Amino acid sequence: MNIRPAEPSDRPAVVKLDAACFPKDAWSERSWADEFTRPDRQVLVADAPTAAEGAGRLAGFVVLLVPPGADDPVDLLRIAVDPADRRTGVGRRLLATALERHPGRTVLLEVAASNEAAIGLYAGSGFTDISRRRGYYAGGEDAVIMRRAGETE
Ligand SMILES: CC(C)(COP(=O)(O)OP(=O)(O)OC[C@H]1O[C@@H](n2cnc3c(N)ncnc32)[C@H](O)[C@@H]1OP(=O)(O)O)[C@@H](O)C(=O)NCCC(=O)NCCS
Repeated sequence: MNIRPAEPSDRPAVVKLDAACFPKDAWSERSWADEFTRPDRQVLVADAPTAAEGAGRLAGFVVLLVPPGADDPVDLLRIAVDPADRRTGVGRRLLATALERHPGRTVLLEVAASNEAAIGLYAGSGFTDISRRRGYYAGGEDAVIMRRAGETE
């Protein structure tokens, strides 16, 4: 499993994978163009194993907002794995690689309270619940705010 910073040429595949993974709230082409160009964004992608059917496709991606100030927390904006590759450790490795790139920094994220898969992934990667936003999502679902404390705290 190769995990690497996204290249501009990965954008169409990322847009497609995002639409497949978030059918109700996929980011627009324009939003993705921003994610790929803003200096405070980092997009990492996981290449699907080359031996697998459909070699050359992406197995997953993760998007971070990394503020320039070293004391400001990093936000994990999005992570997704192709349904065909789930429960094989891709999400865990994508997240670990993203976190390794920012040693010692606090990382925050928000996740729908019903998203057991993502909450399990985050909890197993050192994140803890710090608060809940009632009715945060369209449809009224709560958001859980999770945090991985930085080394300096
Ligand atoms: C959340 C997501 C990224 C997990 O990716 P993944 O590659 O399947 O995760 P992994 O195989 O690395 O699993 C890591 C851990 O996450 C948890 N997990 C993953 N899928 C799970 C599921 N369906 N149910 C419960 N826990 C799950 C488990 O704790 C798992 O550890 P284990 O396999 O040792 O039990 C994937 O399910 C996904 O893309 N979901 C849709 C997009 C999404 O909701 N993203 C998060 C919000 S931005």
